[in-house]
Amino acid sequence: MTMMKTLKLTAAAVALTASTAVAEDVEVLHWWTSGGEAAALNVLKDDLAGNDIGWQDMPVAGGGGGNAMTVLRARVTSGNAPTAVQMLGFDIQDWAAEGALANLNALAEEQKWNDVIPAAIQRFSTNDGAWVAAPVNVHSTNWVWANKALMDELGLEQPQSWDELVAAMEAAEAAGYTALAHGGQAWQDATIFDAVAMATGGPEFYQAAFVDLDEEALGSDTMKEAFDRMATLRGFVDDNFSGRDWNLATAMVINGEALFQMMGDWAKGEFLNAGKVPGQDFACFRFPGTQDQVTFNSDQFAMFKQGDMVSGEQSYLAESILSPTFQIAFNKVKGSVPARTDLDASELDACGQQGYEDFKAAAASGNLYGSMAHGHANPAAVKNAMYDVITAHFNGEYDSAAAVEELVTAVQINK
Ligand code: GAL
Repeated sequence: MTMMKTLKLTAAAVALTASTAVAEDVEVLHWWTSGGEAAALNVLKDDLAGNDIGWQDMPVAGGGGGNAMTVLRARVTSGNAPTAVQMLGFDIQDWAAEGALANLNALAEEQKWNDVIPAAIQRFSTNDGAWVAAPVNVHSTNWVWANKALMDELGLEQPQSWDELVAAMEAAEAAGYTALAHGGQAWQDATIFDAVAMATGGPEFYQAAFVDLDEEALGSDTMKEAFDRMATLRGFVDDNFSGRDWNLATAMVINGEALFQMMGDWAKGEFLNAGKVPGQDFACFRFPGTQDQVTFNSDQFAMFKQGDMVSGEQSYLAESILSPTFQIAFNKVKGSVPARTDLDASELDACGQQGYEDFKAAAASGNLYGSMAHGHANPAAVKNAMYDVITAHFNGEYDSAAAVEELVTAVQINK
């Protein structure tokens, strides 16, 4: 760990580096394998390479990170934890509770993370008074991505309500296009459900059902209506949707085969990676009815304990991740927005600037809600139980009334 080209080592990092004998590579477990995700990850790899830190890549394909978390469990069980792991919400909390994560407080205090990371994100980065993860970004799930040329061809304005959203998809279907590009995987179905539930019942309902796991909200007529809307959306996907990866669904919108995709803003990384320009080639807008809310998930890197202290490489990785330059450079490519709220976002594109403003406004007004689909509303056992019901309903195994009953039972058993 010699030349620091882009960052100076802080006093805390120097002290920590001194405690480790040799500089080692970082082995990073992550699920960023699509074109846009890999391009964003390269920003981090390049940063480390510029500082003589080697990178051992441990990619585990599978959007949403379910597969990555299974591999992680196996690695840790066999006594071979990676240096750093991409992780979401409650998974960070679970690993911290197991005592597996290194304490980053020295660095966090020195760099004043407390002052620049909003409480809703810190709630997942910290555990029992210790910083245990470095937030890379903030994504949100309540977005719709649209092919601009198709919208123009069909004479469509940005839909402002559920009815207008449905009408736009009917127009696309009537003209022979796929109205909704979607991949039939449980986490993708659940990602749409985040936005549909928020739009149908509003923030109090979302909070009660997904965060507080309130039985009345889970079993309500509002929940039934949300499932009814999912059934309506199911009617707009093409015949080959089953098992399709999310980035292939994005490609359908990019190529003009499909009008919309309802997906987190990692989809924007695919548009950008294909050379597309927001406002010109594609449009981004909040899922109608959720214009004032942000259902967020924050990718964070948790450092697995390698010894008594956090290693110099781990500390450097965390320091890099939180640096203002990196937060802008990475998020410009990834489609997400910085996790720090003190940055100048003028380098972000139009969707990114809107996303950053929405995030900061929602953080300030209390309208930032953890994404159920991406592990920020409830722990993995409950999340997976919800996935099962949402997907079974999406695939026609349950009608909406049965799905509501199954959801109540699934949560009762797994909470
Ligand atoms: C999310 C993650 C994003 C993106 C997406 C699809 O859970 O936060 O960074 O990778 O999965 O893979």
